[in-house]
Amino acid sequence: MLSANRDETRWERPGQFDITRRVSGHIGFGTGIHGCVGQMVARLEGEAVLAALAARVASIEMTGEPVYRDSSGLRALSSLPVRVTTK
Ligand code: HEM
Repeated sequence: MLSANRDETRWERPGQFDITRRVSGHIGFGTGIHGCVGQMVARLEGEAVLAALAARVASIEMTGEPVYRDSSGLRALSSLPVRVTTK
């Protein structure tokens, strides 16, 4: 259990980022009666940040290995070294 959005019985190649993936049914914002009430704000914030980045940034490259937090319940990064090159 605890695989959620990485459940290989629900998602093909769950560990791979695929921008064309159809994501309906993901549970990143929870579901049902306890679904995230702030998800529209969060989606708008994400769109604003990505639009601002796309306007100013030429590339973002990883410069080291991602380090994940030591948690049995959450998959979260503690560090992800990147180099940002502006336009
Ligand atoms: C990317 C950002 C966010 C993510 C990934 C996220 C994710 C989640 C998830 C997974 C839950 C369900 C937790 C559960 O099932 O126990 C949740 C609940 C909730 N979220 Fe978010 N959230 C985000 C941003 C926000 C924002 C911006 C707000 C407020 C403005 C917010 C307010 C809430 C509240 C109040 C609940 C509890 C709803 C309830 O139990 O009735 N969240 N969120």
